[in-house]
Amino acid sequence: MQISIGLGKESVEERLELHGVSRRDFLKFCSSAAIAMGMGPAFAPAIAKALTAPGRPAVIYLHDAECTGCTEALLRSSKPYIDEIILDTISIDYQETIMAAAGEAAEEALHQAMKNPNGYLCIVEGAIPTAMDGLYGTIGGRTMYEINKEVLPGAKAVIAYGTCASFGGVPAAAPNPTACKGVNDCFADLGIKAINIPGCPPNPLNLIGAIAAILAGTKLELDALNRPRAFFGHTIHEQCERLPHFEAGEFAPSFDSEEARHGWCLYKLGCKGPTTYNNCPKARFNDVSWPVAAGHPCIGCSEPNFWDNMTPFYKN
Ligand code: SF4
Ligand code: F3S
Repeated sequence: MQISIGLGKESVEERLELHGVSRRDFLKFCSSAAIAMGMGPAFAPAIAKALTAPGRPAVIYLHDAECTGCTEALLRSSKPYIDEIILDTISIDYQETIMAAAGEAAEEALHQAMKNPNGYLCIVEGAIPTAMDGLYGTIGGRTMYEINKEVLPGAKAVIAYGTCASFGGVPAAAPNPTACKGVNDCFADLGIKAINIPGCPPNPLNLIGAIAAILAGTKLELDALNRPRAFFGHTIHEQCERLPHFEAGEFAPSFDSEEARHGWCLYKLGCKGPTTYNNCPKARFNDVSWPVAAGHPCIGCSEPNFWDNMTPFYKN
């Protein structure tokens, strides 16, 4: 898979074609994003238009304290590869995991992106360590806290991508010796109001949907936890294909049981679907499946403090 950073002179369509993504593939992808947004396939052309409109802002993607699983989910997504869609339709000018530049050249790329005449969006992956003046997390000799503090205030929009960036996630689990915080908790005093797209990992379709809405100037309605209602407006349980079995009182007794294989409810095996808000049953991962369909209970990965509040994962 070829990865490119920044925009060349070709049109978006030409760049996509160069990477083997046909117009049809692109529209199919936009249709999946529209369905994830709860808009229906008819909204796909509007998403396509937003992603290919001229004068798009640059995108700066910051990494903080995390496992890089959010980026991994993005890069392992199905055809048409979402990274191609993202990299070829919007200009990701700074992303430490996939950019070729290193050292001073990388820092220069960051500062150039911040000067983009069309402005920039900032996507943050990972929690921000705040103990010991942020010294638990440094990049190029600067703390993650300092880098975020420099970049976030100038962004047209900030997206906290993944549960760590949204709510602290695993790095902030008790006893949290590094005092890790999510973006909004960490930078409220700077007036930052990031859109939270939690999940461990989050679904890349939700990121694309949020970016498309921002580029199209569509106001995203957010819930009390700053999550777009379009993606996080319903519980996993409400949308789950095993729900009829829950309602019939049919609970799988073990993971390897015939009942589990036949789609019985996983509640008695620890499923946290009733208290978890996300669109996994509809959006699915890689157009293929999602945890409960694959036979694993939802562990509530997109909720605040899930590591502390949702454990033990296999008991209810
Ligand atoms: Fe609800 Fe989980 Fe049972 Fe699905 S498997 S119906 S989400 S409790
Ligand atoms: Fe996470 Fe539950 Fe979806 S564990 S990936 S919110 S099914």
